[in-house]
Amino acid sequence: MAQRPIITVLGLVCFWSWMQSTYGEYLIGVGSYDMTGPAADVNMMGYANIEQNTAGIHFRLRARTFIVAENLQGPRFVFVNLDAGMASQLLTIKLLERLKSRFGNLYTEENVAISGIHTHAGPGGYLQYVVYSVTSLGFVTQSFDAIANAVEQSIIQAHNNLKPGSIFINTGDVKEASINRSPSAYLLNPAEERSRYPSNVDTQMTLLKFVDSASGKSKGSFSWFATHGTSMSNNNKLISGDNKGVAARLFEDWFTSQNKSSSPNSNSTELDIGELVQIAQLIKATGGKDCNEKSSQASKVRKNDGSLFVGAFCQSNVGDVSPNVLGAFCIDSGKPCDFNHSSCNGNDLLCVGRGPGYPNEILSTKIIGERQFRSAVELFGSASEELTGKIDYRHVYLNFTNIEVELDNKKVVKTCPAALGPGFAAGTTDGPGVFGFQQGDPEISPFWKNVRDFLKEPSQYQVDCQNPKPVLLSSGEMFDPYPWAPAILPIQILRLGKLIILSVPGEFTTMAGRRLREAVKETLISNSNGEFNNETHVVIAGLTNTYSQYIATFEEYHQQRYEAASTLYGPHTLSAYIQEFNKLAQAMAKGDKIYGNGTSPPDLLSVQKSFLLDPFGDTTPDGIKLGDIKEDIAFPGSGYFTKGDKPSATFWSANPRYDLLTEGTYAVVERLQGERWISVQDDDDLSLFFRWKVDNTSFHGFAAIEWEIPTDAISGVYRLKHFGASKKTIVSPINYFTGASSAFAVQ
Ligand SMILES: *[C@@H]1O[C@H](CO)[C@@H](O)[C@H](O)[C@H]1NC(C)=O
Ligand SMILES: *[C@@H]1O[C@H](CO)[C@@H](O)[C@H](O)[C@H]1NC(C)=O
Ligand SMILES: *[C@@H]1O[C@H](CO)[C@@H](O)[C@H](O)[C@H]1NC(C)=O
Ligand SMILES: *[C@@H]1O[C@H](CO)[C@@H](O)[C@H](O)[C@H]1NC(C)=O
Ligand SMILES: *[C@@H]1O[C@H](CO)[C@@H](O)[C@H](O)[C@H]1NC(C)=O
Ligand SMILES: *[C@@H]1O[C@H](CO)[C@@H](O)[C@H](O)[C@H]1NC(C)=O
Ligand SMILES: *[C@@H]1O[C@H](CO)[C@@H](O)[C@H](O)[C@H]1NC(C)=O
Repeated sequence: MAQRPIITVLGLVCFWSWMQSTYGEYLIGVGSYDMTGPAADVNMMGYANIEQNTAGIHFRLRARTFIVAENLQGPRFVFVNLDAGMASQLLTIKLLERLKSRFGNLYTEENVAISGIHTHAGPGGYLQYVVYSVTSLGFVTQSFDAIANAVEQSIIQAHNNLKPGSIFINTGDVKEASINRSPSAYLLNPAEERSRYPSNVDTQMTLLKFVDSASGKSKGSFSWFATHGTSMSNNNKLISGDNKGVAARLFEDWFTSQNKSSSPNSNSTELDIGELVQIAQLIKATGGKDCNEKSSQASKVRKNDGSLFVGAFCQSNVGDVSPNVLGAFCIDSGKPCDFNHSSCNGNDLLCVGRGPGYPNEILSTKIIGERQFRSAVELFGSASEELTGKIDYRHVYLNFTNIEVELDNKKVVKTCPAALGPGFAAGTTDGPGVFGFQQGDPEISPFWKNVRDFLKEPSQYQVDCQNPKPVLLSSGEMFDPYPWAPAILPIQILRLGKLIILSVPGEFTTMAGRRLREAVKETLISNSNGEFNNETHVVIAGLTNTYSQYIATFEEYHQQRYEAASTLYGPHTLSAYIQEFNKLAQAMAKGDKIYGNGTSPPDLLSVQKSFLLDPFGDTTPDGIKLGDIKEDIAFPGSGYFTKGDKPSATFWSANPRYDLLTEGTYAVVERLQGERWISVQDDDDLSLFFRWKVDNTSFHGFAAIEWEIPTDAISGVYRLKHFGASKKTIVSPINYFTGASSAFAVQ
């Protein structure tokens, strides 16, 4: 019986691992909610192009959330990933208020992180400082409400489905999804420092996989990787989550199709194409009909009942990182642009970055999204390292106007009030500015100095403090009619076992991010007794909790390209971040609290100005109803469509801003299944396009729906359907309508 104890020990080990896998290490909840917002007339956030207003949807935007808790009583935190340009201070403030009234003190500024993916193709006007709402004509309530409701709903969902589970972490490189768009500035960093890295961008993706203990199934995955959401250009008018939104759509669909015996497309038909054409010919456009508020939701392909797998692609130290990986070229000569200034014979407008699908930006967006998606699938499949250990967090508000920073040489320097340099106005190779500036401009012309001084002449203190940045806009000294730039910024550290997430309120450049991560890691290690070690893994969550533009290194600051010119608080901005993050890290490592949360940022909701008018009075000519077909399907000579074809139809419609059809859809592709129409695609699909148009003489509105028949479509009879809403007068109730095109056969 000598073996007995060994068997018992083995039994215990098995029992222990069974316990572990059954009950998991943490409580995990995930949630997701539609935050698409107004698909007409609203300026897109990102490029600051006054002409880039929404006019339709490529695919929908979502807020995706995970909550992790040690146990019901123990520490927990919330991470929300927004398909938005960036987080917004006002949004964070209002969300915290809503969470307080709903959950008491469970979720506060300390343990909630709200992060933006940095798409440049989402509705703007939801930030509170003037600089970020000039091109949106001020505050846009509809944009704000759509995002705020989505964040709240996704958190409620995640909170309600908190269940025991395990978390696995994995890391790997994403290839050809990023290049440095300011390599000349990167080169100013010390050679010794640069030589420690294989590339001038961080190619690592860090992925978390959440596995539910009871079912053994994964319920979600969040990953961080740095690349700009600028695959879609500053001419695009379709709402889009850009490359990270694509990656999320592909990943969630991939996961869902994995474990489904039949996908919606898998019912094939026995009929041949001749018979399909005959059936299709019998079914004409329906004409506009009234429907109800829930009709479009009922037609969605992916219904949000709270049980969806949530796959999120989060942003990181994205500052100088472009998805336009073929490089920047002069559009006149086709030659590479000037290295230091990213211009062509002095003209910045001619120098434009090219994505891998150039000149097709939708294709570029798909390719860069697909590269992130494929890396995530690989990391997800092979994730075997389980996270264990504490959940913890530290948070503080800092007034970046005048932080004293002690440098390594003991010299004490200061940050400055926010200011922008001319390189900011030059834009980047992802979206050049229109005012004739160049990146790296060392001076401002007398003309622009006059314009600047008309707005606000910078103080001498500011000019000296920001040097060598020439001050083009002293936004930190401008308070009329309300502050132009943030002064108070939140910084936050979240801990999940060996994973450390740094919530930064802006866009760190590649090297700035590396310095911050290393400093925090060193501080954690040197202030703890082995609790942190070189296995501690630090990621940067970019554009989180509020937005304050860029953070370049001190060396990069000296070239004053776009990223440096947008580093608001002067040459020592990064050093201030490192110093203050180190304080939080030290407190975390030692188990100390932060004494004093700092001054809270102002709530500027009541002083916001809004100049965008609501739509009203959309009409149709006599005898035509909303939802009636304007241009029906144009059949090819063969009488039917094949894969890759693009059937389209245009409907008489009303402004999409009357109702955002949240968790619903403006457009559906339906397939005839016996006697019933079933939805196979909606406006959240990458191959269905919903475009909103207004006739500029009659002011009638139209919804154009175009379907790129995907390669996995099955033969059958299809039609395109539109949903919309209108209001006769400002005070009338909303009226919902729908209409369908004539049927068409697809082989
Ligand atoms: C599909 O289900 C099986 C069995 O439930 C599970 O082992 C597998 O991990 C699931 N696939 C994915 C991608 O989660
Ligand atoms: C496929 O066809 C069968 C039989 O008509 C039907 O019961 C089922 O719901 C269909 N599946 C889908 C996804 O349409
Ligand atoms: C870029 O600027 C640096 C510093 O002024 C200079 O040394 C270098 O020659 C320039 N490179 C090019 C390609 O113009
Ligand atoms: C930030 O600090 C500056 C300089 O001390 C001060 O003038 C300003 O009022 C502070 N800002 C806020 C919002 O507290
Ligand atoms: C951690 O430290 C050990 C021993 O010093 C070393 O072998 C290992 O490579 C280090 N790991 C990392 C990730 O740096
Ligand atoms: C810091 O903020 C948290 C959450 O808002 C609050 O519970 C705590 O009391 C604050 N601490 C101080 C010292 O004000
Ligand atoms: C009106 O629309 C037509 C055709 O789309 C276009 O050519 C014309 O430039 C537009 N006019 C204005 C003032 O936008």
